[in-house]
Amino acid sequence: MGSIISDSKPLEADFVPPSLPHREKEMQTLDRMFYPMVKYNSPANAMVMGKSGMGKTALVRRFMDFLEGQAEENEKKVKCVYVSCMDSRTDYSILLKVMKGFDPGYPGKGRTMDEIKNDLRSTMSRDKVHLIVVLDEANLLQKDTELIYLFTRSKTLEYGTISLILISIVDIRDRMNDQELGTFGRSTMVHLKDYDRTQLRDILDQRIELALHPDTVTEGAEELILDGACERNSEARVVVELLRKSASAAEKDGAEQIMPDHVRLAKADSYPWVSISKIGMLDFDAQILLFTIAGCLRKDEAYIGTDELRDFYADACGRNNVRVNRDIYFKNLDALEKEGFVDVWEMKGQASLVSLPDCPAYGVEEMVLEVWKRTGQKYTA
Ligand SMILES: Nc1ncnc2c1ncn2[C@@H]1O[C@H](COP(=O)(O)OP(=O)(O)OP(=O)(O)O)[C@@H](O)[C@H]1O
Ligand SMILES: [Mg+2]
Repeated sequence: MGSIISDSKPLEADFVPPSLPHREKEMQTLDRMFYPMVKYNSPANAMVMGKSGMGKTALVRRFMDFLEGQAEENEKKVKCVYVSCMDSRTDYSILLKVMKGFDPGYPGKGRTMDEIKNDLRSTMSRDKVHLIVVLDEANLLQKDTELIYLFTRSKTLEYGTISLILISIVDIRDRMNDQELGTFGRSTMVHLKDYDRTQLRDILDQRIELALHPDTVTEGAEELILDGACERNSEARVVVELLRKSASAAEKDGAEQIMPDHVRLAKADSYPWVSISKIGMLDFDAQILLFTIAGCLRKDEAYIGTDELRDFYADACGRNNVRVNRDIYFKNLDALEKEGFVDVWEMKGQASLVSLPDCPAYGVEEMVLEVWKRTGQKYTA
């Protein structure tokens, strides 16, 4: 490795560190909730909720490893399957992923839903395994999903023992009917609170220790990374992203330490706050608005007026059979501003101006297209 980075793995987005500073309590809560599972093989359920970048996925991934370890120690058969609802939206594709968790060669095509359900039943009864299904980005589950019912009533429906962990930015228990809520459990919430600066510093220090040679970060650089994360909703993701980018900027520079200027450079080239998962959270009509804004601003423009934008937006919605009116337009613009995707500048006596904060328009466009690709959403340009 280079002069700064000793191991690049811990700087990758999907790396899960061996311990999660300031999520110990939440880990214990999950542990308590799953005690009946580990001890008596009874199903347990949990919902992990918190804003983007607060460590929901990392926490559950860590917990899955822990459960598998516990099961091994107690000689119990446990199978954890992780599914992102961003990548697999329909009940069909989620169940397919679950089956592929048992058998990576499980045929994907040509099977009906009923056949997959039967295969799940027979696999479960053959392997006598306790299945733990993790549904990440569960807020993207289809409104009429049957899976919560199926997974939480698995015994009655003769699927064997299944536990369910839902991960979501918003509380999705209000989408469950009374019966589902009854089986899912009413006190199953693990809420991840926002990090403060001191906590983010510990997360940063841990990453530095895992990934960098000793004494390679100046104090000033560390402060600027923390400033960057605090400016952007206190996301731990921003900490990791800025550390990675500034470490490689310092290496390219041939420097022996990460200096404040390397962090400034990293900040200019980094926009982790416009994340795919955050775009995926928006309704399709708000996604179209973000895509339209990025499209308008890509062509040499710094700002676009809200009147002009409304015409472009109406056209884009028309082409895609999406009905919007003035109220929906302003509601969506408001939502994009609140989430930090766009800035809206009030102008005296004129239409307001819209701009993209710190991130290139083509980057935003590419990310929206990626979300549509993953979610199978058709869009006519
Ligand atoms: N307590 C922590 N300790 C160490 N690293 C952390 C901690 N919390 C989050 N991270 C890191 O921050 C990044 C973002 O975390 P994660 O992906 O788990 O967030 P999330 O809540 O799932 O966000 P999203 O809703 O956007 O999916 C990851 O790189 C993760 O490893
Ligand atoms: Mg996540």
